[in-house]
Amino acid sequence: MAETGNNVDRAADMLLKGGLVAIPTETVYGLAANALDEEAVLSIFEAKQRPFFDPLIIHVHSREAVGKYANLHDNRLLNLAKTFWPGPLTLLLPKKDNIPSIVTSGLERVAVRIPNHELTLKLLEKLDLPLAAPSANPFGYVSPTRAQHVEKQLGHKVNYILDGGPSKVGLESTIVGVEDGSVCVYRLGGLSLEEIEKIVGKIELRINNSSDPKAPGQLKNHYAPRKPLFVGDLKGLAERHKNKKIAVIHFGKKELPSNLIAFDLSPNKDLHEAALNLFRFLREADDTLAEIVICESLPDEGLGRAINDRLKRASVQ
Ligand code: TXA
Ligand code: MG
Repeated sequence: MAETGNNVDRAADMLLKGGLVAIPTETVYGLAANALDEEAVLSIFEAKQRPFFDPLIIHVHSREAVGKYANLHDNRLLNLAKTFWPGPLTLLLPKKDNIPSIVTSGLERVAVRIPNHELTLKLLEKLDLPLAAPSANPFGYVSPTRAQHVEKQLGHKVNYILDGGPSKVGLESTIVGVEDGSVCVYRLGGLSLEEIEKIVGKIELRINNSSDPKAPGQLKNHYAPRKPLFVGDLKGLAERHKNKKIAVIHFGKKELPSNLIAFDLSPNKDLHEAALNLFRFLREADDTLAEIVICESLPDEGLGRAINDRLKRASVQ
């Protein structure tokens, strides 16, 4: 069991000593270490069993702090930063030399964000250091949206869990950068494309759908529960697997056979609520007696796009 609480001073002490602390954010919980301490960053990769080619996001408390570690000169990215930070937006920015290359897996750009969570902002302000933090789950598994999720899987590996309650967005941040002169989105997430395009106009999607680690973060099989997950038409899937115990995750009220273990992402079909519940339900479905999990695709708009992206990566294909 990891020590758990909402004591920012305690969390700061652990981080200054090179420890690992789980931090709450509005998107998902992060597994944080001092980004300027290579040993500490190394221990993040070890704890998660994460390959070194997959770089980390650094978290800071203000735009001034961003400027210490990266160049935020592009006007379009600056406008996004002004509009959406603190919030579920990560920017890929040219890095400064003080960021160790283990953080960026040797890449020229560093991923930066200002998370929107009171406790974590307090912690970042107190430390005045960047915190490298991937989602606090074993590599490839579903991201945690509650302190208990972190405890269950990484409790024995972290020094402290800063418990800030359930995450309010429930999906990881949207990753944006500029490449070949265009604003590109590299990962769909808690900030929708529509919101981004309102500020910077048409963007380009550069979402990697292969298992090629050249464009990290987008490995094909990711965010997956341990039980096989099938995504598609619920009736067809239930029929195809009728000899198995099935957990079903659906969107909006449905008539379903009573032998199914059911989770409704949002009875009123609200995409924000669905995003909030997705990872929790994937975990809860994993903990049932079901042999497989089936889930339907959501409308491909707003946060629905990011939810569908996660489902696709989590499913057996
Ligand atoms: O909402 C979030 O972004 C959460 C919270 C904790 O902030 N963090 C998160 O981190 O989702 P992680 O490590 O699970 O996912 C970050 C993704 C990775 O897939 C990584 O490949 C990509 O961001 N990434 C990080 N640095 C990058 C870089 N320099 N260039 C390209 N991709 C990068
Ligand atoms: Mg992750």
